[in-house]
Amino acid sequence: MTAILALHRHGPDDVPPLVLLHGFPLDATMWDDVVALLPDLPVLTVDAPGFGASPAPGAVAEALGRSADPALETYADAVAASLRDAGIDRAVVAGLSMGGYALLALAERHRGLLMGAGLLDTKAEADDDAARANRAQVAEAAAERGSEAVAPMLTQVLGTTTQAERPGVVDRMRDALAAAPPEGIAWAQRAMAARPDRLAALARLDVPVLVLRGAEDAMSPQAAAGTMAQALTDVEVVVVPHAGHMSAVEEPRAVADALRRLYERSV
Ligand code: MLT
Repeated sequence: MTAILALHRHGPDDVPPLVLLHGFPLDATMWDDVVALLPDLPVLTVDAPGFGASPAPGAVAEALGRSADPALETYADAVAASLRDAGIDRAVVAGLSMGGYALLALAERHRGLLMGAGLLDTKAEADDDAARANRAQVAEAAAERGSEAVAPMLTQVLGTTTQAERPGVVDRMRDALAAAPPEGIAWAQRAMAARPDRLAALARLDVPVLVLRGAEDAMSPQAAAGTMAQALTDVEVVVVPHAGHMSAVEEPRAVADALRRLYERSV
């Protein structure tokens, strides 16, 4: 059986892999610079439903026999099924922002899969009403105007240092936002709006965990990272200087080093 989601293998073909789940509204290529710094590790990057080379969300839900309602549970089940189809029943999994939300759904529904977990620029709390209303607006705008709906994210996802000093990263992020698929944008916004608080699922994780955040992340506050870290016993907390919400794109060396430590603690 072929995997439901697109999995991209890098480095040695060993198990267990380090599985990386990207942020919204990007795809697995978000991890390219991090992957290049981990040539000796078995890394698998994954495209979320409706992003990169993965099928549309409706097809993913249908393949799993799940409702077509946008849900991160569908994404998490698809990750677990895709890994199983690839012969992988245990993995170290890390996710950035939306990828972290999907990882927390994986922790709730497929805890036995996880040997270690990396939560990057993300949070365990559910959205408040204002955030949900904003997501509904972006989802509607994506249906009407396509990727233009996410163009304003450019200055929100990049830290002030990157905006001032790394024009190449700014251009790359602008291009990635312009290329974001409208159906994926709308589905992901609705799925993220529907996610519950998953602090309890996080607290039940008895594997090594990394909680990492860019020091200039304006979207995932330090308090949210602190709440996650306090719920855990085996946790390394990393704050990456000079990086915003897209820490893995802005400061790939620091993120790759932290992921390597997580992998080594976990396997
Ligand atoms: C992301 O980077 O995945 C998004 O900012 C997540 C979100 O909108 O909450």
